[in-house]
Amino acid sequence: MKIATIVGARPQFVKAAVVSRALQCLDGVREIVIHTGQHYDFRMSEIFFRELDIPEPAYHLGVGSAPHGAQTGRMLEAIEGVLVNESPDCTLIYGDTNSTLAGTLAAAKMHIPTAHVESGLRSFNRRMPEEINRIVADRLADLLFAPTQVAVDNLLAEGIRAESIHQVGDVMYDAALFYGDKAQRTSCVLETLGLEPRAYVLATFHRAENTDNPLCLRIICAALTQAASELAVVLPLHPRSRAVLERERLFDSLTGCLQIIEPIGYLDMLMLEKNARLIVTDSGGVQKEAFFYRIPCVTLRHETEWIELVELGWNRLAPPVSAHAVLRIVHEALKAPPGADATPYGDGHCAEGVARILRESFAPGTLTTGPSRPVPRGKLAVQCA
Ligand code: UD1
Ligand code: UDP
Repeated sequence: MKIATIVGARPQFVKAAVVSRALQCLDGVREIVIHTGQHYDFRMSEIFFRELDIPEPAYHLGVGSAPHGAQTGRMLEAIEGVLVNESPDCTLIYGDTNSTLAGTLAAAKMHIPTAHVESGLRSFNRRMPEEINRIVADRLADLLFAPTQVAVDNLLAEGIRAESIHQVGDVMYDAALFYGDKAQRTSCVLETLGLEPRAYVLATFHRAENTDNPLCLRIICAALTQAASELAVVLPLHPRSRAVLERERLFDSLTGCLQIIEPIGYLDMLMLEKNARLIVTDSGGVQKEAFFYRIPCVTLRHETEWIELVELGWNRLAPPVSAHAVLRIVHEALKAPPGADATPYGDGHCAEGVARILRESFAPGTLTTGPSRPVPRGKLAVQCA
């Protein structure tokens, strides 16, 4: 059985790493990795393949950065060429990036079954590019791996057939457990950066709605600067955010207050997360990792897809409407007692479930899963007998 994994952005490398490892344990399964090239800097891409032992991409499409339409279109064309060449039994896509969208569309048009890992997440905010990508991916995928009950409920509410949905847990939890141990053994990031455990705030931001809006950007910078007068703040900076900070002439003043570093490898990132006093982020993955290590988190957004974290008291939303409002939530999170304990993301063996169900569903001759198209609610189209 041949599986074509389509990835392109940093969080997808983390997710694919654990599923690739699980696929390697199955007889008769061959995975080929297609890297769209959406992320291409060494620290946004190759470092993950090296550190996490992800199979070398069989195809590197080198698409790079561009506006949404152009980027997705170039990926679509290039992925189609590879799929024609390889004729895989199925494609495997992750998350909600433009690489996810292009992979899904290419496979669907070629009638190649697709499995979507991290399916069913919704912000209900269609101004987010990721929300559009998720909706299309979930509509077109044949097999939907939903991390949480909330995600399952979202899919069912959209009329996706229950048989196509598998609540397997979250592959990022598997990754945080597996690589967390390795990070503990190998990472020297705290020493390198001169950080004491529980004595710093770890911050990340890169969402389009925060970086592309100069007001939000200024508010985030002001809030982090003020927080840094009380507790060290370390900021591994996404290249998108660096570019806008430089363009808006905010970068230099920020470097005087925060410890701004280049994007870092996953192992160092896990180590920074595990030892932080507080995490402030707009990242989807980082919100969850904060919880995996039971570190309080403040999310710089109006809404989150991971609502269980807010309900459990580990995560607080702090929309960047004013620096004062963000700082107030930061103080609240620093003072609050720990959130409730729960295991909404599975048992750390999600990837094995994904691999097993994939093989059961898509191995040649065993195709049991039909398209996950929504259950018709209106009139059925008339079909010829
Ligand atoms: C993308 C995803 C987002 C995900 C994020 C993970 C979409 C629409 N967005 O956002 O969901 O949370 O990845 O990090 O797919 N750049 C570099 N070097 C790189 C990559 C990007 O300099 O290796 C810069 C370029 O200026 C580029 C910008 O970052 O224009 C944005 O990159 P892009 O991949 O389009 O979106 P992300 O913001 O990374
Ligand atoms: N990450 C990393 N180094 C960094 C920043 C993030 O390894 O400098 C990891 C992080 O631990 C998580 C993933 O990248 O596993 C999240 O990616 P990102 O925040 O870019 O995307 P999102 O999850 O928001 O889609």
